[in-house]
Amino acid sequence: MLTLGIETSCDETAAAILEDRRIRSSIIASQADLHGPFGGVVPELASRSHVEAVDTVVRSALEKADCSASDIDLVGVTAGPGLPGALIVGVAFARTLAWALDKPLLAVNHLEGHILAARIENEEIGFPYLALLVSGGHTELVNVRGVADYEVLGRTRDDAAGEAFDKVGTLLGLHYPAGREIEELARRGDPSRVKFPRPMARKEGMDFSFSGLKTAVAVELRRLSREELESQKPHLAAGFQEAAVDALSRKLELAVDHLHPKWVVVCGGVAANGRLREKVRYMLNAVPGVKVHFPAPALCTDNAAMIAYAAFERWRAGRRESGPSEPVPRWELGQAAA
Ligand code: KG4
Ligand code: ZN
Repeated sequence: MLTLGIETSCDETAAAILEDRRIRSSIIASQADLHGPFGGVVPELASRSHVEAVDTVVRSALEKADCSASDIDLVGVTAGPGLPGALIVGVAFARTLAWALDKPLLAVNHLEGHILAARIENEEIGFPYLALLVSGGHTELVNVRGVADYEVLGRTRDDAAGEAFDKVGTLLGLHYPAGREIEELARRGDPSRVKFPRPMARKEGMDFSFSGLKTAVAVELRRLSREELESQKPHLAAGFQEAAVDALSRKLELAVDHLHPKWVVVCGGVAANGRLREKVRYMLNAVPGVKVHFPAPALCTDNAAMIAYAAFERWRAGRRESGPSEPVPRWELGQAAA
């Protein structure tokens, strides 16, 4: 079965072809350079750029997979959550294509794509499993009970983890999105030089909060003289990263204690972070019977293979309902799109 996935929820135009669960092609046109000078995604520019790129990206995915549009059996598209104008481009394109080809179309929740993606690489990960989704827009702990059956155990009350990396990156004068650059900078720094607060550490429950941590970095920066700034940046990056990663792994530990899962999946862009991987592995080593999977970095950050896969999983599970036919910019996982 060939599934075409289309993703335009934020600043990547992506298309992928899956043959059952095998990725035949996955094309991503990133708009990072376009938004970089603004320090964040500019919605209007994002939508325009998706319009310019979407047909070329889909064509490239078909060519790379060595198939034509008429070979496609199923189309999956991200319907939300995301930027309204950006989502419209992918949804309108996918609806038109599915209609012209007379093939079924399934609307996919972007977060569902992230949390199911691990199963593309590792078939052993069976339901139920625990997912920590850490991306630029979301930070959620999810009990993944089955396809389309998700229980959110905790989520961020303010900034997402990736958003915190990006905002701290802006404070440190780095390029957007700054996650990878902060990680590189932190390698040259000493995380104990500046000790930042561990957000929500003393609070019960599995919710997160990152805006206070970002503010703590801003306050620390203001205390430095111009001369000190350059030499202190690696220490600030390391101290921030350590606090963020610590907060994530502590809440993950609570969720593991609560659910006793066989598998833990850490996914979304921030899951590419080496220190987070190290810390989570270390924490879970002490818990007998739990295995952990981190998707390959290309499957962690936004891509369309995960969207195609979520559509394929739904189809295989006999879930034929097509989902919302219009974009749903605020679509919480585990909730029907209104
Ligand atoms: O999943 P993703 O590609 O997009 C969203 O759905 O948001 O995640 C992008 C986020 C950005 O905030 C980026 O800074 C962060 O993931 N990121 C990282 C790393 N690589 C990407 N954060 C920390 N360390 C990294 N190595
Ligand atoms: Zn994402």
